[in-house]
Amino acid sequence: MHNARLTLDPAFRIGSIDRRLFGSFVEHMGRCVYTGIFEPGHPRADDLGFRSDVLDLARELGVTVVRYPGGNFVSNYRWEDGVGPRENRPTRLDLAWRSIESNQFGLGEYMSWVRRLGAEPMLAVNLGTRGLTEAVDLLEYCNFPGGTEMSDRRIKNGDPSPYDVKLWCLGNEMDGPWQMGHQTAYEYGRKAAETARAMRRLDPSVELVACGSSNRQMPTFGSWEASVLEQCYDQVDYVSMHAYYQEHDGDADSFLASAVDMDAFIEEVVATADHVRAVGRHGRRLRISFDEWNVWYASRFAGESSLEWAQAPRLIEDEFNVLDAVVVGTFLISLIGHADRVAIGCQAQLANIIAPIRTELGGPSWRQTIFHPFAAAARLARGDALRVEPVGPLIETAKYGPVPVLTAAASLDAGTGAAALFAVNRDRVNPLSLTVDLRALPGASLRSHQVLADDDQRATNNQQNPSRVGPRAAAGRVVDGRLTVTLPPASWNVLSIATDISVGRPADVVPDFSTDFSTDAK
Ligand code: AHR
Repeated sequence: MHNARLTLDPAFRIGSIDRRLFGSFVEHMGRCVYTGIFEPGHPRADDLGFRSDVLDLARELGVTVVRYPGGNFVSNYRWEDGVGPRENRPTRLDLAWRSIESNQFGLGEYMSWVRRLGAEPMLAVNLGTRGLTEAVDLLEYCNFPGGTEMSDRRIKNGDPSPYDVKLWCLGNEMDGPWQMGHQTAYEYGRKAAETARAMRRLDPSVELVACGSSNRQMPTFGSWEASVLEQCYDQVDYVSMHAYYQEHDGDADSFLASAVDMDAFIEEVVATADHVRAVGRHGRRLRISFDEWNVWYASRFAGESSLEWAQAPRLIEDEFNVLDAVVVGTFLISLIGHADRVAIGCQAQLANIIAPIRTELGGPSWRQTIFHPFAAAARLARGDALRVEPVGPLIETAKYGPVPVLTAAASLDAGTGAAALFAVNRDRVNPLSLTVDLRALPGASLRSHQVLADDDQRATNNQQNPSRVGPRAAAGRVVDGRLTVTLPPASWNVLSIATDISVGRPADVVPDFSTDFSTDAK
């Protein structure tokens, strides 16, 4: 058994955790919308055709914000196609995913759905095949009270109150040559700046996201962010990041270390944005909207041009295993650990497409393995993120060299005294004994220790065995202000800790794990 240690101390504050860090993404792609969240005729469909089983799971997941409608899809989307009487809506070709789009689900349905979920909307405008005029029309349709062409159209379509959408993405992955209407950084930066100025003139309360690079491997990464922000720094609030990771050639150790890359990526985007700020003598610092992240076995996807035209086809419905869930846990740790600069996070996507929730047409829905770390973090990471500085052994990886076996992040809600520690043991063979110094937290006691690990690290949940993998309760003890727990090999761990720091509500009312999956796991 290896040993590691870290300290929880309220003095080591990173920043407050924005609740929007625990967002998701619904794109018109494959079966995310159709038969994912929307399936009129399903036995569990509600009066608007939304799958109530999926809404229940999304609430349990704890999703706080949902980005819509894309993704690559948005770059040739006409939002007007998805509003008004359903029988009048056109069927169109979606060039991004070579799919046939019925437009039976559109803006009004999304707004009703996101409200039923209890999450915040986040809309993307098409800056690929369209531009400023259509973006402003959409904003007018959404947020203007009435008495104008677009706002009256919304009212006529049955929504008298403005939607009051605050979060807007200025396009999607505009650096990618696969994107409809792909642009150079200068072209996009100018377009984003002018669109943002016009949108803010209409509604000064909007928060705007400029497109960063599609991933860290893009040849233009770094220079793209710098050029785009040189054009639009003062007009936007966030720069976007997207990142997907997978295991390559059976190299599980490198895969488990993927968050090392995510950490570096975040720090590089922050540095680039701060460079533009310094050179341009700008005031406020920009924050990051990490609005697509996940594990995605992209190498199994033959590419968009290989697709046959179809309606709601099965696309990238990866079945995730235990290691995938542990890696998702490390991404959540990375996001929480950068809470000072990352404000928004959207796991891509919510249903069926590389998703925590899987569904079948007319059939059941279930939680994939990656559901569990997200749900735990969304529920417990509240208040401030704390710097924990783990000390422990290293593991050699082919891709990243020596990497810490232990990665961890912590939160402390000073209003309730509830603290949480999220910790991953990346070692696939050896358990790790972790000592947590809690002496700076008066009255600290362990409320629960939940573990996601399995003797079969490739085990998955699926339709036949939907609860094969799930978190289980584990032990831990506090002696003289020091907590000792054992982290099993390749495990995601959540420690919920009560303290007397509370200046507000009692810690008991802080949401905690209400479900013990130990009984139906395995
Ligand atoms: O989430 C799937 C796709 O990945 C999105 O449409 C795109 O933005 C990204 O490349």
